[in-house]
Amino acid sequence: MNTFECVVSKLEVREFMRKEVESEIKRRILESARQTGSGLNLQHWRFVLVEDKKNLSQLALDSTSGGWIAGADFAIIILTNPTLRFHLIDAGRVAQSMQLTAWNEGVVSGLFTGIKEGNLRNDFRIPNDLTPSIILGFGYPLKPLTGKKKNRLPLSQLVYREQYGTN
Ligand SMILES: Cc1cc2nc3c(=O)[nH]c(=O)nc-3n(C[C@H](O)[C@H](O)[C@H](O)COP(=O)(O)O)c2cc1C
Repeated sequence: MNTFECVVSKLEVREFMRKEVESEIKRRILESARQTGSGLNLQHWRFVLVEDKKNLSQLALDSTSGGWIAGADFAIIILTNPTLRFHLIDAGRVAQSMQLTAWNEGVVSGLFTGIKEGNLRNDFRIPNDLTPSIILGFGYPLKPLTGKKKNRLPLSQLVYREQYGTN
């Protein structure tokens, strides 16, 4: 699978098998985050790896749109520095790096951003100077992915030539 194929075939998955992801793959996923570029190369992101089933269930309780994380094999909480105007760009980039690296290994993932921040901060001891921006859940897919198609706008509705509005 080349990079384009990896991007095009990657889907968000929220149902996972009870099969552990090998620690080498987890390490590689985290390494891909580390290698990602950040604004001013500040590398302000920090990652909390959550593997304990009890803590995965707690993550689900601390979310408003990610209850499915309870069934993931493991999760990664992406923390970024909210004083940087580009911190969510940096969060998105490491999220995509990790999701694509996982998919390249046959590991699927989903993300959520609906976070009960106060609860999460308490439960996972997040310091005040970092914001939990994105939470990713990973695992092997429960069902074959063949049935799911992406719903995307065509390029003709998305791309203009030279100036906005000109096709
Ligand atoms: C910025 C952002 C926020 C998202 N928030 C959530 C979320 O809170 N909960 C969730 O289950 N999925 C969330 N998603 C996943 C989207 O629903 C998903 O990317 C979209 O439906 C396309 O899925 P597909 O690639 O499988 O077609 C989020 C995705 C992005 C990029």
